[in-house]
Amino acid sequence: MSSIEDQLRGTDRRTEDRRHGDRRERRELGPPLIEFRDIWKAFGPVSIYEGLNLTVHQGETLTIVGGSGTGKSVLLKCLLSLITPDRGHITAFGEDVTGRSERDMLEIRRRISMLFQGGALFDSIDVFENIAYPLRQHKWGTEEEITDRVHECLRLVNMPGVERKWPSELSGGMKKRVGLARAIAMEPEVLLYDEPTTGLDPTNVKNIDNLILDLQERLKVTSIVVTHDMGSAFRVSDRIAMLWHKRIDWVGFKEDIWEAENPIVRDFVEGNIAEEG
Ligand SMILES: Nc1ncnc2c1ncn2[C@@H]1O[C@H](COP(=O)(O)OP(=O)(O)OP(=O)(O)O)[C@@H](O)[C@H]1O
Ligand SMILES: [Mg+2]
Repeated sequence: MSSIEDQLRGTDRRTEDRRHGDRRERRELGPPLIEFRDIWKAFGPVSIYEGLNLTVHQGETLTIVGGSGTGKSVLLKCLLSLITPDRGHITAFGEDVTGRSERDMLEIRRRISMLFQGGALFDSIDVFENIAYPLRQHKWGTEEEITDRVHECLRLVNMPGVERKWPSELSGGMKKRVGLARAIAMEPEVLLYDEPTTGLDPTNVKNIDNLILDLQERLKVTSIVVTHDMGSAFRVSDRIAMLWHKRIDWVGFKEDIWEAENPIVRDFVEGNIAEEG
């Protein structure tokens, strides 16, 4: 076993033993919840996917890794129908959601929520209003119920008491937490995380990773995480999928990545660890 492998497995074991006991050994998958089937997409002359397939199972945390510009973020946007594939189909909760209109996506977007890179908070309203925003948009409840829910979500991300702060007063890590509080406000069944730890210092990376694990445990959501950080991928995932050559080139339980025959997978894992220092 290489030292990198030791290092990753060690981190993995420590985190998961401490927080989640038997989770490391979990190797059963729930029923399929989200399916990408034979997806093709090009932007002008630039082809992004050529026959991409991926299934996400209920209750799992699946991390998508891959080089910059390979189409990780676009895949999440296709699922939310913010971008329409040229060919192929995406199903969620048994429904075809490919290229749906804004109006037809409203119900799906209640059930699938995304933490955008950087948190994507509205700068002109305070933290409370940022989290209340989707609740008001979906007429979630009375003003009192919304207030309670905002407080509850901030507690869930370990950020109580910041309701009246402005986004500009928050650090990068705090913004991600508030963005996460907003993402979970509607009690989604699926959480999408686009680079949740990018740009954070190592302590905050661990904090966000632990938060993802905690939310997973408490809310029993299905999660898709996009990251270039293999350490995070190993800490939070059940399975890892590698986007390479316009397809999902490898997908499997994270422990099996070391036995993957595909040399690209191994190169990628080790290359990233070297890059992380
Ligand atoms: N709306 C768009 N119009 C045109 N091209 C786009 C659009 N969105 C993404 N692209 C292109 O599609 C490719 C994939 O983009 P995407 O953002 O999914 O990459 P990524 O894998 O998330 O990269 P990174 O790791 O840098 O975030 C890139 O070449 C990008 O320039
Ligand atoms: Mg991206």
